Amino acid sequence: MNGKERAAAAALQYVRDGMVVGAGSGSTAQVFLEMLAGRIREEGMEVSIVPTSSEVEVNAVRLGIGGLVRQLWQVDRIDVAIDGADAIDARRNLIKGGGGALTREKIVDYWASSFIVIADEGKVVANIPGGRPIPIEVLPFAWRAVKEAVERRLGGEARLRIGSDKRGPVVTDNGNYVLDYVHPLEEIDVGAERELKSIPGVVEVGIFNGSKVSKAIIGTETGVSIME
Ligand code: 5RP
Repeated sequence: MNGKERAAAAALQYVRDGMVVGAGSGSTAQVFLEMLAGRIREEGMEVSIVPTSSEVEVNAVRLGIGGLVRQLWQVDRIDVAIDGADAIDARRNLIKGGGGALTREKIVDYWASSFIVIADEGKVVANIPGGRPIPIEVLPFAWRAVKEAVERRLGGEARLRIGSDKRGPVVTDNGNYVLDYVHPLEEIDVGAERELKSIPGVVEVGIFNGSKVSKAIIGTETGVSIME
């Protein structure tokens, strides 16, 4: 097993029969979903799954567990959300949104009774952002105004995320664009989540406050370490 698989396997023990599970986006969360699907198939475990992106919803269908998918408005609670991260620091502050799903992830993850982050050790940084760009979801109409406001207020550079086919901006599940903001310093105050969100046109920011993270499971080549 690699670090992602070890973290995903360890997270599985926090899922019990009857739970409503928030399913995160990205390759680590995908490993978790595959393991959960195995458990449902082999042990008849009964859970509901709230996806954090359309990609996760499609993946659930591919894994044969599409019938368990519920939209957020169809459930009265989320017992546990399991999600990946682009960076995590010692206070469990996160950078998320590498896959562009930050808005739905933040809603599901923050609303869950328990929010568990799974990541391999390559994601651990001394302080966020730790050199990673901070994704910011913006209304398409406002992308340039937000870019200039972010750069003026906090310094650094906010780049419009372009699709891999180079044909235009990446469009999120919510019909918005993403700015990848490169902060000039290795460290950013977690309060910047609020400051960035106050800029008109910003939909969501990929800074997740560590106080919302119940537990982080970091997978290594030999085992897991838990941050809680
Ligand atoms: C998607 C995310 C992912 O959780 C993050 O990008 C980590 O992905 P991976 O597990 O593939 O490294 O925030 O919006």
